[in-house]
Amino acid sequence: MKHNVLISEDKIAEKVEELAQKVALELKGQPTILVGLLRGSVVFLSDLMRRLYIHGVFPEVDFMAVSSYKESLESSGMIEVIQDMRLPVEGKTVLLVDDIADTGLTLSEVKKIIEKKNPAKLLTCVLLDKPSRRKTDLKPDFSAFTVDDVFVVGYGLDAGDRFRYLPYLAALDEE
Ligand code: IMP
Ligand code: MG
Repeated sequence: MKHNVLISEDKIAEKVEELAQKVALELKGQPTILVGLLRGSVVFLSDLMRRLYIHGVFPEVDFMAVSSYKESLESSGMIEVIQDMRLPVEGKTVLLVDDIADTGLTLSEVKKIIEKKNPAKLLTCVLLDKPSRRKTDLKPDFSAFTVDDVFVVGYGLDAGDRFRYLPYLAALDEE
């Protein structure tokens, strides 16, 4: 499948740095856990946490794996927890990190699951926000880029588990 660069490596690095500054203002001094949703968030999370460190945030890092996409490009609206997080969250601030808020179903369902664990505060942070596709009232607390209704790959985002390795963000021609 053909893909066209949408957001360059340099632009991503610049935005992730800006975002880390904003997130650090919010999180500094609070015991914090970053919870990355596997697998799409891993590239973003690994850059974000190192910028957060530079700005004085020293978080614990955990992961959750949920599935919703069942190998197709369209969300099925079904959330299944495949791997839950392992660190205790009680009394801590959780920053839930994902690659993209599309319909918002994944993040709103995962938020419900984490709320039950009694965090002191729960915030969401995404690389990409695609508000035109939203089917829930989810509004990410932090997002690096807002994108139109195009299918995006690279920098962790996949299409059928391909393209995660691209160092930039690209639009996929669905032809
Ligand atoms: P949501 O539950 O519809 O918000 O979808 C969240 C998940 O769908 C993300 O974590 C991605 O794995 C996937 N997704 C949604 N849009 C895209 C896209 O444009 N490119 C790659 N994956 C996407
Ligand atoms: Mg995915």
